[in-house]
Amino acid sequence: MKKTVVLRVDSGKPDMDKIRVAADFIRKGGLVAFPTETVYGLGADALNARAVLTLFEAKKRPLDNPPIVHVGDVGHVYGLVETVPAKAEELMRHFWPGPLTLIFRRSQIVPNVTAAGLDTIAVRMPKHNVALALLKESRCPIAAPSANLAGKPSPTSALHVLADLNGRIDAVLDAGSTAIGVESTVLDLTVDPPQILRPGGAPYETLRDFLGNVELNPLAVSEVTPHIEKARSPGLKYRHYAPVAEMIVVEGEPEKIADKVNSLKRFYEGGGKKVGILVTYENLSCYSAESVKCLGSRRDLSAVARNLFGLLREFDAEKIDVIIAEGVPPVGLGLAVMNRLRKASGYNIVKAK
Ligand code: TXA
Ligand code: MG
Repeated sequence: MKKTVVLRVDSGKPDMDKIRVAADFIRKGGLVAFPTETVYGLGADALNARAVLTLFEAKKRPLDNPPIVHVGDVGHVYGLVETVPAKAEELMRHFWPGPLTLIFRRSQIVPNVTAAGLDTIAVRMPKHNVALALLKESRCPIAAPSANLAGKPSPTSALHVLADLNGRIDAVLDAGSTAIGVESTVLDLTVDPPQILRPGGAPYETLRDFLGNVELNPLAVSEVTPHIEKARSPGLKYRHYAPVAEMIVVEGEPEKIADKVNSLKRFYEGGGKKVGILVTYENLSCYSAESVKCLGSRRDLSAVARNLFGLLREFDAEKIDVIIAEGVPPVGLGLAVMNRLRKASGYNIVKAK
């Protein structure tokens, strides 16, 4: 067990002394959690195979699921990849820094462990002054999966990071809550048309308008547990974002959802379970239960995205046995929210008719 140093910094104008302490850890092969605009990442020098191996161990992450490599400058991509397609250049110019991860064919510089043995890597430039300052001071690309134990909801605050990784990592840069709350969109540019492997902070509709043609990987919008031997994105095949509690997602028309949620609630309470309900603002008055938590309005899906992971963690802290969650419209950030809810529930989906 190591001592995890907590470095509190301003999210807009971070104290450079603290950034340097964090960058020193990274340069020496250590592990530092840091905020991005999406969620907190757990960083290691992407070109240091030993450091990346430690990163997998700290997170208890399977070695065949590669992390995203973060860069502090568009120009740094060129050294990491074989070729940069014209489409990628346009996307980087328009969306970076920001919540869009691009898949490229990798160059030989990238260690096998960082790429999890694939011939591609995922790269993004985060839009957060703390992350960018850390990248600059570290002078290396930083491999950073979300800073949670494998399978848990991603951390949107330093407290969430510490709940999972205190004593397992060198430091966490604490700059408060993250703005977007769900991870970046992962876009595969090695296929034509480009394909979204994971819906996230950059909405499908925005990418479609920009690119003209973009596909959603069927597994990313699946309503059933994907049975796949070799998914193009390794992350697609693991249970993710999962609270300890059993979870059910109820999808359908908002008015019909409430009836269904309430009948499920009565069923589980009848069986002696402690039930938590995760709801949108519009339906808040329809429920009473041990714990009712509000995601935000269905008309403001960016608030719903921002609140999602923190609320899942709160239910666990309250030792809730069963979480019944309302589905939200799968548009804009709602698509990423639905992807996370379904995965978190292990595809335990009920349709309200
Ligand atoms: O917003 C984010 O993306 C956050 C912050 C920290 O940047 N990071 C993040 O990383 O969510 P992680 O490791 O938890 O998720 C990375 C996803 C996984 O689903 C992984 O399978 C996929 O990206 N991925 C990584 N490399 C890939 C590759 N070469 N091909 C396809 N998918 C890849
Ligand atoms: Mg993750």
